[in-house]
Amino acid sequence: MPAEQLSSHRSELYRKLETEAQALLQGETDLIANAANLVALLFHSLSDLNWAGFYFLKGDELVLGPFQGKPACVRIEMGKGVCGTAAVKRETVIVANVHEFPGHIACDSASNSEIVIPLIKAGRVIGVLDLDSPKFSRFEDDDAACLGRLARVFVDSCDFSDAL
Ligand code: SME
Repeated sequence: MPAEQLSSHRSELYRKLETEAQALLQGETDLIANAANLVALLFHSLSDLNWAGFYFLKGDELVLGPFQGKPACVRIEMGKGVCGTAAVKRETVIVANVHEFPGHIACDSASNSEIVIPLIKAGRVIGVLDLDSPKFSRFEDDDAACLGRLARVFVDSCDFSDAL
């Protein structure tokens, strides 16, 4: 597909995804239910993914939440791996080649690139959304922008009062 057509195709896909995510999460405040539904939507809508899931901050560790893909490592220290780095920096991290990222934590040997979006509620990091791909350089700025908006829809929809 020519680059221009591909870019418009991706924009359309992301618009559709945002509408679907809003409809899926609207009126539901349960953290686990919304996290499970959002990763299922992402995993089955986006191309070239081998893993999509949440980690939630419990104490000073990120702990595995709902995901799609192979079983993954359960606990990640803040500052470690791509997930812990995104959580500490409080910014989205895109890794074109995970094998070149110092301290990358390999959960599935199929993963070659990764994007991690921090989840921020009332100024506090409460976890991360993590997507892995078998394709190198799978994630670009438009993925980061869209996933950031979806993370916001998720955070705003959930009641965290007794979950974390
Ligand atoms: N690769 C991540 C660990 C989580 S898995 O990809 C599911 C990291 O380096 O933090």
